Amino acid sequence: MTDAAPEPVVLETVAALRAWRAARRAAGHRVGLVPTMGALHAGHLSLVTGLAPETEAVVVSIFVNPTQFAPHEDFTKYPRTFDRDLELLREVGAAAVFAPTVAEMYPDGFATSITLDGPARVGLEDAFRPTHFAGVATVVAKLLLQCLPERAIFGEKDYQQLAVIRRMARDLDIPVTILGGPTIREADGLAMSSRNVYLSPSERETAPVLHQVLQAAAAAVRTGTSIALAEGAALRELSDHGFLVDYVAIRDAASLAVPAPDARPETLRVLVAARLGQTRLIDNIAVVG
Ligand code: PAF
Repeated sequence: MTDAAPEPVVLETVAALRAWRAARRAAGHRVGLVPTMGALHAGHLSLVTGLAPETEAVVVSIFVNPTQFAPHEDFTKYPRTFDRDLELLREVGAAAVFAPTVAEMYPDGFATSITLDGPARVGLEDAFRPTHFAGVATVVAKLLLQCLPERAIFGEKDYQQLAVIRRMARDLDIPVTILGGPTIREADGLAMSSRNVYLSPSERETAPVLHQVLQAAAAAVRTGTSIALAEGAALRELSDHGFLVDYVAIRDAASLAVPAPDARPETLRVLVAARLGQTRLIDNIAVVG
């Protein structure tokens, strides 16, 4: 006899997701949604377990969303590891996996996209991936409306994405509580990411410098260094280690706007995006945290 957790039920259509959701509601269950693009790691799994105290059933969506990739980005080579994902989700007790096809999410004639402002237009990810957040917001709005979960959770590693989704759900009156889950790191500090598999062995050795530089910038601001000087030092340090830096910025943690020079450290977040070879890494930490 085995006490292994049951396989999550795999739902491939919106109709199947809605029927599953209705059955959970009839059973009095609160549902949590974890939107993902698969290639799951401990960071994703912590989002599933993070919902456990607040929900009776967790559904994880696995959908590599084409509309959030620019033509030159890695949509076709994005890692797809469905069978392993399912096994990991069984181990953490997810109740269901929603794995639609592209045609199910974007049927012929699909013509709608969400236009964003506020945290989606602050000169961070949006400056380097100008069509990205419209794709993210549109697919997340669809997932929320298809599933109508009580809670949905997103990793803080994609900090600007989390801010954009919170704003979008509030502005469109989508009846859901959006939660943020802490970034899960490797032992050497590198933030877990499905894209870390792209790193060569020598790039993987260098990659933790990203987190070290964030920590140094945060410490500098806490001890009175100006924001501009801390940003400049971080940029130099990353360049010296071979990173091609898109941005390293200290911003207001709530709005992501450029802070006043005398902003209190507790209100600030340090965010970075930089390339090592072909791999683009992003990360962020609270200045006081
Ligand atoms: O963070 C991600 O994996 C994706 O951007 C999301 C939120 C699942 C939307 O496709």
